[in-house]
Amino acid sequence: MTSKKILLTGGAGFIGSHLASALAERGHRVRVLDIMDPQVHGVVPHRPQAPGVEMIKGDLLDAGALSHALEGVEVIFHHAAAVGVGQSMYEAADYTRVNSLGTAMLMEKVAKAGSRVEKVIVASSMSIYGEGRYRCTVCGPVAPEQRGRKRLLSGKWEPACPGCGLDLTPLPTDESKPLSPTSVYGVTKRSQEETVLVMGKSYGIPAVALRYFNVYGPGQSLSNPYTGVAAIVSSRLLNGKPPCLFEDGEQGRDFVHVSDIVQANLLAMEKDEADFQALNVGTGVRTSVRELARGLTRRLAPENNVAPRILGTFREGDIRHCYADITQIRTRLGYEPRVLLEKGFDDLAEWARVQKPLDRFDVATAELVSRGLVIGS
Ligand code: UD1
Repeated sequence: MTSKKILLTGGAGFIGSHLASALAERGHRVRVLDIMDPQVHGVVPHRPQAPGVEMIKGDLLDAGALSHALEGVEVIFHHAAAVGVGQSMYEAADYTRVNSLGTAMLMEKVAKAGSRVEKVIVASSMSIYGEGRYRCTVCGPVAPEQRGRKRLLSGKWEPACPGCGLDLTPLPTDESKPLSPTSVYGVTKRSQEETVLVMGKSYGIPAVALRYFNVYGPGQSLSNPYTGVAAIVSSRLLNGKPPCLFEDGEQGRDFVHVSDIVQANLLAMEKDEADFQALNVGTGVRTSVRELARGLTRRLAPENNVAPRILGTFREGDIRHCYADITQIRTRLGYEPRVLLEKGFDDLAEWARVQKPLDRFDVATAELVSRGLVIGS
């Protein structure tokens, strides 16, 4: 592919910085627009900037900074977003402003006459599905609603069949599953995805939404207690504390290594088979949070061999299981996950071992508890 002028919003973040390096290595001219939020980057940012990448510290919501960042741009990767699921439930207005309004402002400028933009690729999320797909032994495949509080308080963690009430078995979730986000974060990710796809289609600008499953890998923001479970567990272990697992720890996710997310983005840019589509990016493998904690404990605290603390409580808005059906992205783009869990854990642990993260799990959880967002405590 010829060298492109690329804007990467949120390009100083965990995923964005990996993508920025990969694009620059391929000879593209990369410009990053990032607000450098201290919750993600710390007060003194420590993540090194990829060589050859132009950095603009600025806010997507600042029309002047955005226009400047868009000058001459041909391809946009839109990663700028506020990303804490729990936090989004008490900072709903802020999440909506940054994620939904920010995306609308970006697309308004992209759609303006004179824009040279050829493609927009937006970072979407599995959070827009809510619960994943399941099978009931009696009723067949079903898509259950969010689990009810009464059921959760009685310690029944698995969702019930909407038809007959029996416990369900998880299935891979494909893109046609009806969207049903269970957090404000999920609602804003859905609006980001839909805004980009709808405006792309209306203005004839190829647009792709990549629905990331649970991304992990080196460079994760270990001290950010609002981020994903792999980072939080690593940070606990490195501070000599046991991982804390909500529910019974058997909730299932699809943990996808950041390098595979980069692979998917590059393919979506280089090929046109994903244009105007929303595609899952995962591994297709379901892993429990308990297995994740076990794998990271073996690597980061082998001498203590600490058992995880099973909390038996649940976070409002959490889903039980969701893992990806990756048929679409395989078929359309030739994507294949390359880093599976054991190697991925090695990679994360090797990097995490030399970090000095702060463990803020207790503070962040206390905040959720005080707002009634951790139930059963
Ligand atoms: C959510 C989003 C996802 C986003 C990710 C990171 C949903 C359904 N998905 O994923 O799109 O990429 O956040 O922002 O909203 N857990 C523990 N102990 C911990 C932390 C988490 O047991 O210390 C549990 C949670 O209760 C949950 C599971 O681990 O059951 C995964 O949580 P998390 O990593 O926050 O991600 P998701 O909620 O799956």
